[in-house]
Amino acid sequence: IIGFRSDLPFASLGYDEEQEGLSERIIIKFSHVVAENTPKGLAVDRFSQLVKEKSNGRVEVQVFPNGILHSDQTEMDALRRGDIQMIAPAFSNLANRIPAWSVLDLPYVFRDQQDVEQAFHGKIGGMLFETLEPLNMKGLAFWSNGFKQMTSNKPIRTPQDFAGQRFRIIQSPVLEAQFRTLGATAQGAPFNDVYRKLANNEVDGQENTISNIYSKRLYQVQKYMTVSNHGYLGYAVIINKSFWEKLPPDVQRVLTEALEEATAYSDQIAVSMNEQQWKQLTKESSMEIHVLTPQEQAVWREALQPVYKSFAPMIGSALMDEISKLHR
Ligand code: LMR
Repeated sequence: IIGFRSDLPFASLGYDEEQEGLSERIIIKFSHVVAENTPKGLAVDRFSQLVKEKSNGRVEVQVFPNGILHSDQTEMDALRRGDIQMIAPAFSNLANRIPAWSVLDLPYVFRDQQDVEQAFHGKIGGMLFETLEPLNMKGLAFWSNGFKQMTSNKPIRTPQDFAGQRFRIIQSPVLEAQFRTLGATAQGAPFNDVYRKLANNEVDGQENTISNIYSKRLYQVQKYMTVSNHGYLGYAVIINKSFWEKLPPDVQRVLTEALEEATAYSDQIAVSMNEQQWKQLTKESSMEIHVLTPQEQAVWREALQPVYKSFAPMIGSALMDEISKLHR
């Protein structure tokens, strides 16, 4: 075993012990829940390919898309146990465990992609990554998807239109509060259940990005979409911390470099994929689509202000201060 301490168990390092003559190969299981033709799906595939090239095949990133290995509700525990080595959960999944992450899910916290990137690559990103370490997780990068839109079986234009509707959310207190503030109710459910829940009328609507609505064909089971850009869907790329610390420095370097390139690629395709799939969606779907006017959006923003008040104490003043700097 070249470059490794012999006292470490193979299994926890993700080695492929069975392959004769390839005993120094390192296997990284990367589990995620979205389709392959999405910003995250493509970024993971690119990362895997780059790692293979840069390590001359020594490190293999095995990709498990579409929640085939773990759902968004089980992947974090599986990562912490070391059953899988990497995940890229939506922020809301982290906010469910670590309240500070709610900051990225505050309604209308980002005005545009530039705000988002400033938060990812500045102090906010660093502060949030620190919160992962005590949970045996190490944050390596932030990936983009895009702004979230509302879909439903009833038309939604004003905050009043939410009254009595049931929405599927990623289980997270801040998203729950968002819908409660609008007079709706919210149910946490894994991403893989969304289509079925909508089809069976277990919920009336959901919020997601264009690429997720398009790639999972949610438009087939929803009558209306409101382009509200009320929240941002992004991902933290996370590795099991003890696994990372046991990797030789040259492998850590390969992973870091591959991730830098995959992240640049992700930033670049996130916006273009959402635009391209928006065009396809408007062509292929029979949903009635309403784009909020700036005036309508201002009314939503105002209606959602109470969410800031309730979550500021648990997010903490340091992060809230950084967020308010974004808007200056
Ligand atoms: C979801 O609604 O669960 C998705 O946003 C998940 C994801 O990872 O994009």
